[in-house]
Amino acid sequence: MRPLKVEQSAALTGQLSMPGDKSISHRCAILGALAFGQSTFHNFLKSEDTLATLSVLSHLAVQLHLTNENVLTVSGKGLKSLSPPVVQLDCCNAGTCARLITGVLAAQSFTSELIGDASLMQRPQQRVADPLNALGANVKTANGKMPVVIEPGSIKSGDFDLDSPSAQVKSALILAALCAGKSLSLSVSTASRDHTERLLEVFGAPIKYSPHHVALPPTTELKAVNFTIPGDLSSCVFWCLAASIIPGSHIICQAVSLNPSRTHVFSVMKKMGAVIEIHSDNNVCEPAGDVHIYYPSEPLKSIELKADEAVSLIDEFPALSVMAAFAQGTSIFRGLAELRHKESNRLDAIVQNLGKGGVSVELNKDTLIIHGGGFVGGQMLSYGDHRIAMAFLIAGLATEKGVSLDDVSVIDISYPEFLSHLSTLSKK
Ligand code: S3P
Repeated sequence: MRPLKVEQSAALTGQLSMPGDKSISHRCAILGALAFGQSTFHNFLKSEDTLATLSVLSHLAVQLHLTNENVLTVSGKGLKSLSPPVVQLDCCNAGTCARLITGVLAAQSFTSELIGDASLMQRPQQRVADPLNALGANVKTANGKMPVVIEPGSIKSGDFDLDSPSAQVKSALILAALCAGKSLSLSVSTASRDHTERLLEVFGAPIKYSPHHVALPPTTELKAVNFTIPGDLSSCVFWCLAASIIPGSHIICQAVSLNPSRTHVFSVMKKMGAVIEIHSDNNVCEPAGDVHIYYPSEPLKSIELKADEAVSLIDEFPALSVMAAFAQGTSIFRGLAELRHKESNRLDAIVQNLGKGGVSVELNKDTLIIHGGGFVGGQMLSYGDHRIAMAFLIAGLATEKGVSLDDVSVIDISYPEFLSHLSTLSKK
């Protein structure tokens, strides 16, 4: 446990090179392991979550090397090259690792078992086991949770409908079909982030995809790649929040992922009055660009979000909730049931911390109602959740009283440089 108190901050100014996107980093490591030859990934995210994926892959006999400059090399030996693990595979806090690796392991000819830390052991895994089993896998959970035991199954080709709004579940199905060399035609009811699909194209898979459909013909080989991972948009969002609530701030986040399945948060923040300029510099498979955020000259405004917007904003509600607490008027965020199943019960965590900070907040089933304007700071908890910790530390920087958090070590799960980036921006 590493407690921290932050005090009211002067303007934050400066440029940050954003660490690699977490979702893309997990996928690069996994696809690199399944490709044939040596892949090199620049700007790989070196955080607890992505290191968990590297550790799991190394227990499957994948050779990996991560340099101090965050360059990951993976020596892939093909789609059928993984070896049986001799230990339980520990995914630590990483839900993405757990769900994606379950898909990969579902197509192997050996048995494996996945575990995680106390938080991950409580998160739902049946959502990935059920659709994989419908595909012919043999995945067993312990009452819907970890440990997940994956025995050899018989993945079949075919047309499937996916009702789950989860990119992790969609990716698990794609990876299972890929590793089994089967074709998959997946109709997806709710569009979600499409990094797996985009990266598979880079690795030379004959995939075709749109927001609601994925078609993967039988694939025999992925080619090794040399790829630069764009900065994490979900980490950049905390600086969007900071510059919007700390007077005089101007922050530039460089080379941030601008994948369209993730950028809705910028439109929402702009509608709330944030001043965010996007300088897109390429339009390759995973687009990226610089994000400039200026302290707005007008007060922030409240916003109402529809339930069908929740998936595209799923990781951004801690930051959006704090922004709503600093805005004028009442914000309403609908369709947030999934937030109960993240690294913490984020709905509860947001309600508790905003309440402790003096904000009037209501939770009506899956709808969060935040009456803005009253955040004064105080003592709060991280709930073992990196994004809750970052959102409320930033909130503390914009209040006279500041914010004390019980544990900021959890930030290392996705953004170990967060506090050093904060001190860079604080220096005049
Ligand atoms: C992720 C998908 C989302 C997101 C998570 C990362 C991914 O989870 O919350 O942080 O990399 O695919 P769900 O698929 O459970 O919505």
